[in-house]
Amino acid sequence: MIDGKKVLFSGMQATGTLTLGNYLGALKNWVALSNEYECFYSVVDLHSITVRQDAGELRRRARNLLTLYIAAGLDPEKNCLYYQSHVPAHAELAWILNCFTYMGELNRMTQFKDKASKHANNINAGLYTYPVLMAADILLYQADAVPVGKDQLQHLEITRDIAQRFNSVYGDVFTVPEPFIGKTGAKIMSLQEPEKKMSKSDDNPNASIFLMDDPDTIIRKFKKAVTDMEASVRYDAVKQPGICNLMDIYGSCTGKSTAEIEREFDGKGYGEFKLAVGEAVVSVLKPVQERFDELIRDKSYIDTMIRKNAEKAGYYANKTLRKAQKKVGFPERVRE
Ligand code: TYM
Repeated sequence: MIDGKKVLFSGMQATGTLTLGNYLGALKNWVALSNEYECFYSVVDLHSITVRQDAGELRRRARNLLTLYIAAGLDPEKNCLYYQSHVPAHAELAWILNCFTYMGELNRMTQFKDKASKHANNINAGLYTYPVLMAADILLYQADAVPVGKDQLQHLEITRDIAQRFNSVYGDVFTVPEPFIGKTGAKIMSLQEPEKKMSKSDDNPNASIFLMDDPDTIIRKFKKAVTDMEASVRYDAVKQPGICNLMDIYGSCTGKSTAEIEREFDGKGYGEFKLAVGEAVVSVLKPVQERFDELIRDKSYIDTMIRKNAEKAGYYANKTLRKAQKKVGFPERVRE
């Protein structure tokens, strides 16, 4: 608890271009929860270097992502928006937690298996212990809740296991966090292969909507979205996975329920439905894009918020880090 409020932590990688999946699965919920909780939202650049990055490009993308957090509606005076690399406690706690995590647990992580197969020439130790760093991110702030998309659930489970293991040895050091999965948009699928998640790294540009896509591109990609031969807007995950995905996107952007969407498009063709989905997405993304264009030019505002928020994050993170260090037996620092 901070000032009587429960704590929330989440993070996003600045690798690749953000997709509609990142927005609907995570960022949109972050904004919705930001009044209720004391929130920490990080740009997790330590995680990003588990795959090779161009340094300048990573820096540029990371700054864009922080700016996008604000453009999406997160007020940096109320929410702590910061770079993970500005708070050394993340790496320090990760080391301690590495010593409380079993290789057997890490071997089971599906994201590691996925990424290892995609980057076969660089299966580094960081990629392997990635979930431990994620646990450190969350536990440092004593987070009660962690809003994520479904693909991160396994990492949340291991975070809970590590926290419980540490607590069972040393007493209540860490809050055991709960995942927060949105009712809609928790798993947005590819527009071209609806059995695959929409991903930043998809080779087919028509498979993903990127947050900075202009309206014409968005509409064009939805027109090309893969559907089926059923020719009716019905929520049937087996026969109509493409349509279900479009219904999820539409529902998530408009707040309409599945039943309402089925009624709205009863007797109407896929062409009309796809256009409506495209327009709904444009109306959600356009204001975010416009605000981003304004903010990115305001260098001093962004710089100030980066400095202030890194200090705030560091303050809370260090409190937990010191507690954990003491428990495992590191000596107190001598102060002058
Ligand atoms: P990342 O950067 O891959 O994704 C950021 C967030 O977007 C969600 N997401 C999706 N949601 C719905 N549909 C999709 N197609 C989709 N694609 C991505 C993800 O679930 C995530 O919530 N390891 C994390 C970052 C991280 C983190 C943390 C998250 C590091 N430390 C601590 C929470 C707490 C990642 O790579 O997310």
